[in-house]
Amino acid sequence: MTCTPARPVASQGITAPAGRTLLPLTPTGTRHGGRSFMTCQYRCGNACDHPEPNRTGHGHVQDEIAKAVARRSVLKGAAAGSGVMVLGGTLAAAAVAPAAADPTGPTTARPVSGDLATAAFTPVRPNRRDAVVTPSGFDHDVVIRWGDGVVAGAPAFDVRRQSPEAAKQQFGYNCDYVGVLPLRDAKRDRKDRSLLVVNHEYTDEALMFPAGVYSDTEITAIAMANHGMSVVEIRRGSRAGSWRRVKSLKKTRHNRRVHIDTAFVLDGPAAGDERLRTSADPSGTTVLGTLNNCAGGTTPWGTVLSGEENFNQYFDLPSGEQLDQRYTDAYARYGITGSGRGWSAVDPRFDLAAEPHEPHRFGWVVELDPYEPDEAPVKHTMLGRFKHEGANVALTRDGRAVAYMGDDERGDYLYKFVSRDSMRTGPSARARRHNKTLLTAGTLYVAKLVGDGTEDGQYDGTGEWLPLCDETTSFVPGMSVADVLLFTRLAADKLAPTRMDRPEDVEPNPVNGKVYAALTNNSQRGSTFQPDEANPLTSSMVRSSIGAPLTPAAGNRNGYVLEMTPAGSDHGAGTFTWDLMLVCGDPEAPETYFAGFDKSQVSPISCPDNVAFDDRGNLWISTDGNALGSNDGVFRVPVTGAERGRVTQFLTVPRGAEACGPLVADDNRSLWVAVQHPGEVDGATFEDQASTWPHSDDFPRPSVVVAFRDR
Ligand code: FEO
Ligand code: CA
Ligand code: CA
Ligand code: CA
Repeated sequence: MTCTPARPVASQGITAPAGRTLLPLTPTGTRHGGRSFMTCQYRCGNACDHPEPNRTGHGHVQDEIAKAVARRSVLKGAAAGSGVMVLGGTLAAAAVAPAAADPTGPTTARPVSGDLATAAFTPVRPNRRDAVVTPSGFDHDVVIRWGDGVVAGAPAFDVRRQSPEAAKQQFGYNCDYVGVLPLRDAKRDRKDRSLLVVNHEYTDEALMFPAGVYSDTEITAIAMANHGMSVVEIRRGSRAGSWRRVKSLKKTRHNRRVHIDTAFVLDGPAAGDERLRTSADPSGTTVLGTLNNCAGGTTPWGTVLSGEENFNQYFDLPSGEQLDQRYTDAYARYGITGSGRGWSAVDPRFDLAAEPHEPHRFGWVVELDPYEPDEAPVKHTMLGRFKHEGANVALTRDGRAVAYMGDDERGDYLYKFVSRDSMRTGPSARARRHNKTLLTAGTLYVAKLVGDGTEDGQYDGTGEWLPLCDETTSFVPGMSVADVLLFTRLAADKLAPTRMDRPEDVEPNPVNGKVYAALTNNSQRGSTFQPDEANPLTSSMVRSSIGAPLTPAAGNRNGYVLEMTPAGSDHGAGTFTWDLMLVCGDPEAPETYFAGFDKSQVSPISCPDNVAFDDRGNLWISTDGNALGSNDGVFRVPVTGAERGRVTQFLTVPRGAEACGPLVADDNRSLWVAVQHPGEVDGATFEDQASTWPHSDDFPRPSVVVAFRDR
């Protein structure tokens, strides 16, 4: 290991400490939500600082309403500055409801059931603890941490002896998506085992590496190897709903670490396109690695989908070089600027001047079959290229696969894909092979939402899925099928879909057939973006810390949960109706709305990110970037009946972390949560950490936990 001298960080004119990250140091304070500058820099390359990639002027489905809002402004009095669109009826009544007496809702005794769908529990209150906090009567286990061995032969983790080779055998950094699949084994009774599949979205070099131990190049190479995915065999713990990883790695047959050198197959209509070819891959069909994998979904045929999200930030442009002018518009629309992370020093394919096509090989939905550890994972070009949060699959009435997807950028779109062929049932190898082709042919759509006016007291309306292309035909004038799939954002712009407030997880509810999308926030709604009925808030109430007064802030700061009902209750339908089921925030804030539920009985919630369902159809929401002063967490929300809209906080994650996953599994007895970036608080360094969770070391380790009833 070598030390490097202090060196200037060009972008800010400040000096990085010896042995410190290649990235520029971050200023302190908070940004959108409660998210730190540090998270913004490491996770998405400060996307918020860059010019809005979607420069189209369309998408204002309720321009007349927007104008009316501008004229009539907002509710008076306490609502002044809240930016809520003027509504009559129930929503307006909710908006001016008295201040909540107890925003964390009623208290109950110890839960009598371990069924997370029905258990009554005392909601977890907003807090800033450096801990995973569950309600009284529940407990949690840490199942796997950053650095724990994944494949046989993995060296023991030592934060001062990290290497790329070790990282490729260990659990990567910043776990995000969590899938749990039953381990089917005809020869051995393995009912007590399952496969845990997890994404590793990004790295935070300031928290991962002690100063003075590693060279910049070593830091970069190790960080690169900490991206990807892990497949880990797990077994039941001693308490119902608890699980632990199988530690005898030699006895695991499915454990796998997908990393920066893992070969992926590109399939679908755009595979092999000239714009996907590089000097290392003249066929344009094989890509090494997957980047910035955020959320995902487990398919009905037993594979895992994973979204490549902020992939644009990994490509460097050496000084004196220019971006390839053939791709000026495309690079701009995806935020590919050449302001990368220095990876080209380790692997020249991340040099945009040398390999202008390499970025085109990221931004896809990935499919991984965890039951086939030797099979190359696939990047499906048919599902389009954008900043994929994830993809979740439901079936049409005739058995075709429908993947719902969000493009996580301010002002970007909701998408869905409907397969041409139907899923085959049964466990045969032939059926599985067929089902793994479903995402290669079908139709890709983008969503347009139209409000029906706010006089009805609801943010609601109708929606249409606008076809972009199928596997042989483009429906976008002037663009081929490959054009549409490679540059999906540019294609969608031409159809004037609705510009949303950062679509994150989009997931069908298997019980009621509706589809739920987390629209996490957009601080620029009302400035860069005009409001519409689906994105109504131009300001919202935030807190600087727990107990501080609510104050207005520009834009939509706390996010929404959008509920979509497919026409005829068929996911294949071309139209739908929609409503904003939740307008998130503190229940004392006048703009908030919890599906009409009594605001004195709900927990404050801010910045919904990932959604999941238990097997009774309750919605579970994890948050990222709390704008109300609390740590992030996980919430349960019934979507039907008298309890519809009752937001109840079940869990909080440690200081600086975001809650990812979540997943309710094992007959509602297990809640899986990925605790991502604990301690990612501005100013924190390896030597001066803001968190030491899970408290096994003197530095934080992103980890997957499972919560369950404590018997
Ligand atoms: Fe990785 Fe869209 O959050
Ligand atoms: Ca309405
Ligand atoms: Ca997230
Ligand atoms: Ca989800």
